Amino acid sequence: MGEDALEGNQPSLVPSAPLHDLAQRLIATGEGRLVSGLLAAVQHVHALVAETRPSADEMRAVIDFLTEVGHSADARRQEWVLLADVLGVSTLVEDMNAQRPLGATPNTVAGPFYRADVPETANGGSICRDGSGAPLRVTGRITDLAGAGLGPSLVEVWQANGAGVYENQEPDLQPEFNLRGRLVTDSLGRFSFHSVRPKGYRLPDDGPVGRVLTGLGLALERPAHLHFRVTAPGCQVLTTHVFDRSDPALARDAMFAVKPELLADITPDPDLAGAWRLNVTFVLAPLAGHTPQPTRGRI
Ligand code: BEZ
Ligand code: FE
Repeated sequence: MGEDALEGNQPSLVPSAPLHDLAQRLIATGEGRLVSGLLAAVQHVHALVAETRPSADEMRAVIDFLTEVGHSADARRQEWVLLADVLGVSTLVEDMNAQRPLGATPNTVAGPFYRADVPETANGGSICRDGSGAPLRVTGRITDLAGAGLGPSLVEVWQANGAGVYENQEPDLQPEFNLRGRLVTDSLGRFSFHSVRPKGYRLPDDGPVGRVLTGLGLALERPAHLHFRVTAPGCQVLTTHVFDRSDPALARDAMFAVKPELLADITPDPDLAGAWRLNVTFVLAPLAGHTPQPTRGRI
């Protein structure tokens, strides 16, 4: 990193004396990700302050907010992650680190409700362990970029119930592992399971992040979805969502995870009144070293 690191980096800003001095001190400590990251952060914060020109009271309010975010983060609740989520930063980091070739199903954030300790459900079995909700039969297929079935693959699924609540949010009301599944596909990559139609929900709004956003009229909504994680030999692990195309909250997802490829139709089950069906295809990308072939790549 050279003497002119300040000038070469974004954002463009006539450096104030403190910024200039701090940059020189940082640069003098050596090179590396910590120094370059800190330097970038300091430059952006200075640019933000120069642009918005906060009063002393406004600066105090910002510090009070960040203090409260810190006080609201512990082993059970992570308000900093929620802040990163609702600012779109979690999805930005995910998108940058999980780029997929054309035709592959996009990756998304896993969110906080994933559990790895779910017992295996037989392919074709049920993941609904309390018998409540509108029945939903999910069928699906795992393929490579050329459309060939990949099996056996591991399919993990987790979702909220018909009231928009995950099992581990109300452990006294829902059975353990309710609406969580771990299935192995057949040799052609096909799987199916019985579940219930999920409802959308709101991210927690009882902390400082929720209070600021709801105060602005932003509802922290998440449109109805199911989460999937698919693992197949020779392929990148896919962690993704499938969103209910009919949910009016799609355009307002507080996590910014909605992508056109992840929308799916939940349709009435012709064989069972009041029941629903969903069919999905997940297209996996090969691990590095394999040549990706562009194909359909749609759910
Ligand atoms: C979820 O979709 O499960 C989720 C994602 C981010 C924050 C909270 C929940
Ligand atoms: Fe979710």
